[in-house]
Amino acid sequence: MNIIVCKSYDEMSLRAAQMVAAQMKEKPCSVIGLATGSTPEGLYRQLVNMYKSGEISFKGVTTINLDEYYPIAPANDQSYRYFMDHHLFDHLDIDKANTHVPDGTAADPAAEARRYEERITDLGGIDLQILGIGRNGHVGFNEPAQRLMLDTHITDLTKSTIEANSRFFASPNDVPRQALTMGIGSIFKARRIIIMASGANKKDAVRAMLERTVDTAFPATILNLHPNVTLICTADVLE
Ligand code: F6R
Repeated sequence: MNIIVCKSYDEMSLRAAQMVAAQMKEKPCSVIGLATGSTPEGLYRQLVNMYKSGEISFKGVTTINLDEYYPIAPANDQSYRYFMDHHLFDHLDIDKANTHVPDGTAADPAAEARRYEERITDLGGIDLQILGIGRNGHVGFNEPAQRLMLDTHITDLTKSTIEANSRFFASPNDVPRQALTMGIGSIFKARRIIIMASGANKKDAVRAMLERTVDTAFPATILNLHPNVTLICTADVLE
């Protein structure tokens, strides 16, 4: 795993944006896997700035997001579709038809998960995947478990994730109890992965990941098996 240590959240965001921009310049029709949450917000601000200054264009780009709550409507301001439109897509020249987020309104979530996985395959896999990391070591919504699912699936959120994400909702009771998420195998279809982490509350999860073991109790540790992963983090994560 390559590691880039940054002095600040802004520097981490800029370094990640520069890598995404380099990928898009090398391959204008790139498939970019995206995450939501607090971690990539600065990255998305940087990408919007780069687009507005004429440095990059998203016309040929396809995006595919890691996950979405279930059930949730896209118009709900806590949905990941809303987050992506609001923080990124609405400010770019991207064709919205080329932006993919699992459908949190699907009547049959298992069928939606299969459709989403097929979409990743049909797109030829992901060129560059952006990941955050949960305090419990989750990636996407692949929560600590004895067995990790390979493909996109519907999953129950753990108590720790519901609590962590309740900061965005009126109360923990309002946090959806399930999510549609890419599986570990879907994420591994990415040719390159950038995992970002900032803040002391990510220390334990990142420390576990850097131990160079694979432990399904810290799903991010499985990234140790992937040939092209870069961790971009702030220095406080490693203290
Ligand atoms: C979001 C996602 C999650 C987050 C993780 C960290 O699409 O898949 O795995 O990356 O929960 O969230 P933040 O960045 O809010 O700390």
